[in-house]
Amino acid sequence: MTEISKAKRDGFSSKFGVIAAAAGSAIGLGNIWKFPYIAGENGGGAFLIIYLVFIVLIGLPVMMSEFIIGRKAQQNVFGAFRSLSKTGFWRIIGVMGVLAAFFILSFYGTVAGWTIEYIYLAISDSFAGKDATEITTMFSDFSTSTFKPLALQLIFMGITAFIVLRGIKKGIEKYTKILMPLLLLIIIYLDITALSLDGGMDGLKFLFQPDFSKITPKCIIDALGHSFFTLSLGMGVLVTYASYFKSDINLTKTSINVAAADTIIALLAGIAIFPVVFAFNTEPGVGPGLVFVSLPNIFELIPGGYIFSIFFFLLLALAALTSSISILEVVVAYLSEETKMSRKKATLLSALAISITGALATLSMGVLSDFKIFDKNIFDIFDYLASNVLLPLGGMLISLFVGWVLKRSIIEDELSNYGTNKIVSIKIFIFLVRYLAPISILIVFLHGVGIIKL
Ligand code: PFF
Repeated sequence: MTEISKAKRDGFSSKFGVIAAAAGSAIGLGNIWKFPYIAGENGGGAFLIIYLVFIVLIGLPVMMSEFIIGRKAQQNVFGAFRSLSKTGFWRIIGVMGVLAAFFILSFYGTVAGWTIEYIYLAISDSFAGKDATEITTMFSDFSTSTFKPLALQLIFMGITAFIVLRGIKKGIEKYTKILMPLLLLIIIYLDITALSLDGGMDGLKFLFQPDFSKITPKCIIDALGHSFFTLSLGMGVLVTYASYFKSDINLTKTSINVAAADTIIALLAGIAIFPVVFAFNTEPGVGPGLVFVSLPNIFELIPGGYIFSIFFFLLLALAALTSSISILEVVVAYLSEETKMSRKKATLLSALAISITGALATLSMGVLSDFKIFDKNIFDIFDYLASNVLLPLGGMLISLFVGWVLKRSIIEDELSNYGTNKIVSIKIFIFLVRYLAPISILIVFLHGVGIIKL
């Protein structure tokens, strides 16, 4: 890319915009839908401690690496590696990133579509008077049907594309600056309601009291895998966003703020969900159905449960939206910069293409459910390929690239904003990205794909 076209590039206009957009990407279904159920399955507090260690020791340095690469290159993820390395090898990270965007946004759009249906069900008070079997049937009838989930997924992709189409300042920054504070308000309201329930404190104990006998290899693997997914690492989302950062954005501080915001929201989601689950004696480790099946069972029993349910699913949908736009932006930036397509054309084309792969993920719950590879349906294959293969591999390559390939002076310049702020400790950072992050990720990756068994 020439200097002139770089200068014309769209970009974030404020520090708050940068945090809102990056935290908006990180905070998503992973925090509100996935975190509570994997914490539940892995024994609560003990899982939490390991997860926090991974966020600090591996998540943070990989996030800083993505920021360094993106801001230095000021290009889409594919172009970034082309411009920063002489060998073609590292461009594979860009290819994997675009591929991962397709996989993640496909199954993410399915679940996001479900959240729209559940906002409607909540508003129309459809959970009232139903027993547990009816609520389970309601979810399975809906999620295995054809027309409605497809239409809702399409609507969700349409809203995502609408925001991305408008660009960085007028689209992504503008909307995340409104949506993220709104999300915080909703979750605080949910927490206050949940904590005021009799018996709710048991839920808090479950979330915060560590039981170290529950720490198994699966718990460790899930914690590392999730720390990647939840921080949006490994596929170039943050490389792409950082390519729109101005030179006064402090990359270390921004990483810490984003990781902290993401963790706090995951905890606040757990605080909203577990007290409710415990106060009404439901099982905390029921898996992905936790928010669509277990929670609707109990809305009726909570004081103010009607409002609680509407705000809960609204929260889920908004969190999904601010993450989806970041994933779509990876593909749009790639297409518009690498093929010189207009932003409009690139957005419409990629949204359309992802809607088609997304339809496969949605239909794999119903009419396509017999199509299986290794006993997994299409939805699970997409999730598996992205979360267990592409994101960890991408994260490992990104940390190796910064640790071993990128010039030390570039790292220092980016982290210090060309000498205007102090770097906390370059030695620790280099140690983490050279050794600790890639080796830990490699172990988890090999276990995740079944090559080694811990
Ligand atoms: N971080 C998002 C979440 O926790 O829901 C999911 C996600 C977004 C993963 C963007 C990866 C990504 F590139």
